[in-house]
Amino acid sequence: MRAGSTRGALLSVYYPQILLILSSGSYLALSSVVALGANIICNKIPGLAPRQRAICQSRPDAIIVIGEGAQMGINECQYQFRYGRWNCSALGERTVFGQELRVGSKEAAFTYAITAAGVAHAVTAACSQGNLSHCGCDREKQGYHDHEEGWKWGGCSADVKYGVEFSRRFVDAREIKKNARRLMNLHNNEAGRKVLEERMKLECKCHGVSGSCTTKTCWTTLPKFREIGYVLKERYGVAVQVEAVRATRLRQPSFLRLKQSHGYIKPTDTDLVYLERSPNYCEEDVATGSAGTRGRLCNHTSPHPDGCGLMCCGRGHDTHQYTRVWQCNCKFQWCCFVKCNTCSEMTEVFTCK
Ligand SMILES: *[C@@H]1O[C@H](CO)[C@@H](O)[C@H](O)[C@H]1NC(C)=O
Ligand SMILES: *[C@@H]1O[C@H](CO)[C@@H](O)[C@H](O)[C@H]1NC(C)=O
Ligand SMILES: *[C@@H]1O[C@H](CO)[C@@H](O)[C@H](O)[C@H]1NC(C)=O
Repeated sequence: MRAGSTRGALLSVYYPQILLILSSGSYLALSSVVALGANIICNKIPGLAPRQRAICQSRPDAIIVIGEGAQMGINECQYQFRYGRWNCSALGERTVFGQELRVGSKEAAFTYAITAAGVAHAVTAACSQGNLSHCGCDREKQGYHDHEEGWKWGGCSADVKYGVEFSRRFVDAREIKKNARRLMNLHNNEAGRKVLEERMKLECKCHGVSGSCTTKTCWTTLPKFREIGYVLKERYGVAVQVEAVRATRLRQPSFLRLKQSHGYIKPTDTDLVYLERSPNYCEEDVATGSAGTRGRLCNHTSPHPDGCGLMCCGRGHDTHQYTRVWQCNCKFQWCCFVKCNTCSEMTEVFTCK
């Protein structure tokens, strides 16, 4: 990362259009910017695609939620990849400010899927809580009986269709260039949202004498975003390599097919797809979106990817010793104070050379 970079700057790598929101420090500051007028803020966010700017102007309240959703996606990405050589860091430093990622790797696929799902999740949650104009609970499900199951829809069902559609309109509007990566990005955005839709939960409540379930009302709720993180991490593990196919006479690529297949087998809706094989993320390389592992913390004894051997790619590691000091053996003395000893311990941490 650049010197002095912030969470916002990290995010801007993926979502240049919300740089302003997150790098301006707090989002309270943003709320006051919104109060100043949608025009001012929407014109100041760099890299917004024209359709995104239009959405920003008509729905400045949603822009805040979009920023939070994308950030939630990035945080989840960092959690899921915390032990990996690739730790969800910038996929190519030079992509800041308005340019799209120039990387077609599995890691880019995961990044797109989780942020698109994050935006859909955040918008749906905000709708359910009455935080956004134009949306609320899923009205289609209000009051209807499900005769087959023998229960009634009630309460506030999360309107995931709205959240998904909003994510589709806003996030996908960034893909302007008609190339293979556009097809890849759109597919992965959709896969992330699809996983969210499939993981919606049904919650029910029984009504009747002393807890008997003579009648039941049910509503749909959003899954915890962590669950989406785990599912997408699994999809990442089995991501499929694809290539773009040009329909005859049209110059632009029109669909994706599995690369190692005979004939035209398309990826499934929830497959994560990639175009290029990943680098090993050992060394810094802007072209492939690798930050390298120099300086990363590693575990001296772990045989897993977080172990110093694998993490440091055989370059070796530095050992840093420090003394950890804390209060211990605290006893209550009559009367009235607490007396403690000071304990200390030599501790080591390891970082990659
Ligand atoms: C809804 O708004 C309240 C009050 O501003 C806030 O505390 C809450 O986090 C918001 N919920 C969502 C899902 O954005
Ligand atoms: C990811 O790794 C890079 C260097 O490889 C490091 O600078 C950065 O702080 C790490 N990010 C997180 C979230 O751990
Ligand atoms: C290092 O790895 C070992 C073995 O996997 C594990 O038991 C230990 O808790 C790890 N240490 C840290 C500091 O994460």
